[in-house]
Amino acid sequence: MTTLSEHAIAILRENDRGSYTVPTKGLYPFQWNWDSCLTALGQRHFDEARAWTEIETLFAHQWLCGMVPHIVFHQMDDGYFPGPTVWATGRPVPTSGITQPPVAGFALKRLFDRATDRPAAEAQARALLPKVAAWHRWFFATRDPGGEGLVAILHPWESGRDNSVDWDAPFARVPTDGIAPYTRRDTQHANPEHRPTKAQYDRYLWLVEHFRALDWDTARMHDASPFQVIDPGFNAILIRSCAELADLADALGETALAAENRALAAKGLAAMESLWSPEHGQYLCRDRAAGALIDSPSVGGLLAAFCAIPPARAEAITAKIEAHGTRFRVASHPPQSAEFDAKRYWRGPVWLVVNYMIADGLAHAGQEAAAARITASSLDLIRESGFAEYYDPITGEPLGGGRFTWTAAMVLEFLA
Ligand code: DGY
Repeated sequence: MTTLSEHAIAILRENDRGSYTVPTKGLYPFQWNWDSCLTALGQRHFDEARAWTEIETLFAHQWLCGMVPHIVFHQMDDGYFPGPTVWATGRPVPTSGITQPPVAGFALKRLFDRATDRPAAEAQARALLPKVAAWHRWFFATRDPGGEGLVAILHPWESGRDNSVDWDAPFARVPTDGIAPYTRRDTQHANPEHRPTKAQYDRYLWLVEHFRALDWDTARMHDASPFQVIDPGFNAILIRSCAELADLADALGETALAAENRALAAKGLAAMESLWSPEHGQYLCRDRAAGALIDSPSVGGLLAAFCAIPPARAEAITAKIEAHGTRFRVASHPPQSAEFDAKRYWRGPVWLVVNYMIADGLAHAGQEAAAARITASSLDLIRESGFAEYYDPITGEPLGGGRFTWTAAMVLEFLA
């Protein structure tokens, strides 16, 4: 009988394209930024060298300004839209022109700490450290122009939580006029009922065309964007990565990079308090353009636990997860909410990568029992429903793409 870990390794190998891994065949045929960093954490369990390569490949496509793009289009594939000709970023190997949750600093430190080949780990970490630091610096320079310590996303795709309820209100400000006619490809690979709507796609595309008209000048995009949202989950990932990178830099004797990243983490952590909602008992997004918190208690506010939030906040987040009351945790939106949709992408379904980061953060904050419940629930889901992209939190039904890379990677981490 194939064990869970053998099954997970087979999926990671099947989706391996040599120096990068596709999230899943068909639906996502290129390299995605945070998928790759989390994938490396799975690969390290059976091929440490390959895990380093995954992150190395991603950073080989870092822009001069420091941004690491959300997609690298290594090979042409008509099965995905919007492809390189829509982005038109003018890169030698085409990439998108927006970024994704910066989990690389965290992944790098974890690979380094747990590596068995120490000389290789030291060489790899030394080479990647300044690149990740440059990405962090880029975030605060271009996405936090007011210097508040928190960065804004300019497109829902940057959050990774594409169609979260969080973006509904700020999306009302994004027009759809003038966009070029297009044909979606995602709905040919996955059930349209489980994917974002056309109204959302029109706005995703409007923003892409808007930034393209600015020649992808990342220094100008923030102020020119009608969509500027401070996502607590995204910021928690950045803050945690800054803190981990600071520790890694210390271990490698790079004291200036250590001090820089420690200061960014401390400032960000203090600023996270401005996203706390006593009414919801969790963190919320802030619409920077409108200057107000967004009344949407999504999983983005629970993912905040990934950085070193105060213990009382972690306890409140544990209580919120319990209050969801779903058979499988953690739902991406509370089932009690009118907008909850058990099967539609980020409006209800469970995602294993989010579970992994919440569990890790809660365990660090002294909520070990809650973390263990999330891990157990994640593995139950895999045993019952296989390695899907995401799952219905009530029935456990597998949804979206199948044989999914980062789901497999997280299983190897959960089993370790
Ligand atoms: C998609 O196309 O669904 C992606 O989430 C964008 O990165």
